[in-house]
Amino acid sequence: MNIKRRLGQSDIMLSPLGIGTWQFGNKGGTWNTVTDKTVYEILQYSLTNGMNWIDTAEIYGNGISETLIGQALKQLETEKVLTDIPYIADKWFPLLRTADTITKTINQRLNCLQKPVIDLYQIHQPTSLSTLKEQIRYMAELADRGIIKNVGISNFTAKGMRKADKLLREYGLRLASNQVKYNLLHRKPEKNGVIETAKELGISIIAYSPLQQGMLTGRFHTDPAATDNISLLRRFHSGISRKNIERTRPLIDTLNKLGEKYQKTPAQISLNWLIYSQGELVFAIPGATKLEQAQSNIKAQSFRLSQEDVELLNKVSENI
Ligand SMILES: NC(=O)c1ccc[n+]([C@@H]2O[C@H](COP(=O)([O-])OP(=O)(O)OC[C@H]3O[C@@H](n4cnc5c(N)ncnc54)[C@H](OP(=O)(O)O)[C@@H]3O)[C@@H](O)[C@H]2O)c1
Repeated sequence: MNIKRRLGQSDIMLSPLGIGTWQFGNKGGTWNTVTDKTVYEILQYSLTNGMNWIDTAEIYGNGISETLIGQALKQLETEKVLTDIPYIADKWFPLLRTADTITKTINQRLNCLQKPVIDLYQIHQPTSLSTLKEQIRYMAELADRGIIKNVGISNFTAKGMRKADKLLREYGLRLASNQVKYNLLHRKPEKNGVIETAKELGISIIAYSPLQQGMLTGRFHTDPAATDNISLLRRFHSGISRKNIERTRPLIDTLNKLGEKYQKTPAQISLNWLIYSQGELVFAIPGATKLEQAQSNIKAQSFRLSQEDVELLNKVSENI
C-alpha cells in the first residue's frame, strides 16, 4: 500500500502513519520493556508494509530510542531489506535548557541515529530558558548547514504555531508541522485553533497518543482489571482508569460496531478517523511494544470510513 502525502509545504512525502518510538527508549518506565529484537521486527515490518518514517526524540530514554533505531536501520541496510531510506523525525528537548544546545547536541543525535541528516527536527515543547526567536535561530542554522531538512514544533498553541512560522520565514523557511495530542478521546486541537491554523498556514499536524495510549483499542473495556497494571505516568497521561473506562464505553461500543461493519479493529477505526477525517492534514504515530500491534495498526491506512460513519464518530466522541 503506497499512500503518501506532503509534510507541510516541504518536498517530503510521508505515509499517513509513522512509527511512534517513545516505547523503544523506555526500559520498564512508562512502558513495558521492548527488546532490541522487537524494535528491529517492528521497524522491519512497518517500513516494508507501507510506512516510510519514524518519530523519535532525544528524551526517549536519553538517546536509547534513537540508538535502537540507528542500529535496526543499519541492520536493515546491510540486509538490503529496504527499497527506500526512511525519513526520521527527531526532537530537541527545550525544558530548562538554552537554545545553543540545539547545535551543541546535534552530533549526538546523528551519532545515535547513525545518520548524516534529520528530515524533521522538532522543538519538543514550548517551555525553554531561551526565547522562541533564539530557538528558531539555531534551528535555521542547522537547516542552513544541511543537517536538518525541516523544522517542526510540538505541543504548541495556535498562537505559537503562527509565531514559529513567522520567525522561520525570516530565514526563508516554513514551519512543517506541529505534533500534538489528538485522538477520538482528545479532540482539543479542533477547538483550540490548532487545526484551523494548520489548515490556514499549510502546516501538518502529527497526532501523538493516537490511541490514547491503548484506551481506544477497547482492550481495557474488555478487561477493566488490566488498568491496575499500567504505570502511574501512563495513567496520568492517558486517563486510563476504571472510571474512565465506563465513561468512554459508548464510544468503544460504536468503534466495535463499525469494526464489525468494516472488518477492522477499534484501533484501526480510530486511526483511520484521525488520518482521513481532516483531509490530508493529519499524520498519526501509533506506538507499539509488540510486533502484532504494529502489524495490525498499519492496516488502518488502507481503507476509508464513509462520511456518514465519520460523522457518527464525531457525534459520539463529542458527547463523551
Ligand atoms: N510530542 C510529544 O510530546 C509526544 C508525547 C507522547 C507521545 N509522543 C509520540 O507519539 C507516539 C505514540 O503515542 P503514545 O505512545 O503516547 O500512545 P499510543 O500510540 O496512543 O499508544 C501506544 C500504546 O497503545 C497500545 N497499543 C498500540 N497498538 C495496539 C493494538 N493494536 N492493540 C492493543 N494495544 C495497542 C500499546 O500498549 P502496551 O505497550 O501496553 O501494549 C502501545 O504501547 C510515541 O511513541 C511518541 O513517538 C509524542
